[in-house]
Amino acid sequence: MRIIKASDYNDLSRKAANIIGAQVIQNPRSVLGLATGSTPLGTYRQLIERFETGDLDFLDVSSINLDEYVGLGPGDPQSYRYFMNHNLFMHINIKPENTHVPNGLEANEKAECARYENLISQNGGIDLQLLGIGLNGHIGFNEPGAEFVSSTNCVALTESTIQANSRFFADMSCVPTRAYTMGMRAIMHAARILIIVSGANKARIVKEAFYGPVVPAVPASILQLHPNVTLIGDAEALSLL
Ligand code: GLP
Repeated sequence: MRIIKASDYNDLSRKAANIIGAQVIQNPRSVLGLATGSTPLGTYRQLIERFETGDLDFLDVSSINLDEYVGLGPGDPQSYRYFMNHNLFMHINIKPENTHVPNGLEANEKAECARYENLISQNGGIDLQLLGIGLNGHIGFNEPGAEFVSSTNCVALTESTIQANSRFFADMSCVPTRAYTMGMRAIMHAARILIIVSGANKARIVKEAFYGPVVPAVPASILQLHPNVTLIGDAEALSLL
């Protein structure tokens, strides 16, 4: 694993955008695995700027997002589809039909998981997977558990995740309790993984995930087994390494 120390959040975002940008320049037909949460927002702003200056072209790029809340549709400002549309897709020239997020409104969980898993293989897998990390070590919405779950699945969110994500909702009772998430196989089969971490509250889990044992109780620890991972963090998030 390559660890890159950024001087601050802006520097982290620029460095992450440099890596994603280089991927898109080298392969204009790249399949990008994308993430939500607060951490990638700066990276997405950087990518938009580079598109606006003509340095990046997303015309032939495809994207496959990690996850979506069950029950939330594209028009819901808390849905991850809405987040992606408004924080990235609407501002660049990626074709809407080439952007993929699990369908939170699909009530048939089995069918939606199978559809998404199929879609990932039809796209030939992921060239570069962008990840954040949850405070409990989740990646996507792969929560700590007894085993690593390999394919797209529908998960019950843990109390800690519901609590952490409640900051985006009016109150705790509005936070969805279930989510669709890409499984570990698609993430681990990505050719490259870029994980970004920011802030002192991530320091403990970053240390556990990358220097502790590889265990399903810390889902991100599986990334230790991937041959091409780049971790970019600010000084606070990397302070315990
Ligand atoms: C959510 C997302 C994850 C993300 C995590 C951390 O739970 N499902 O993909 O990595 O939050 O988010 P943040 O970057 O806001 O700390």
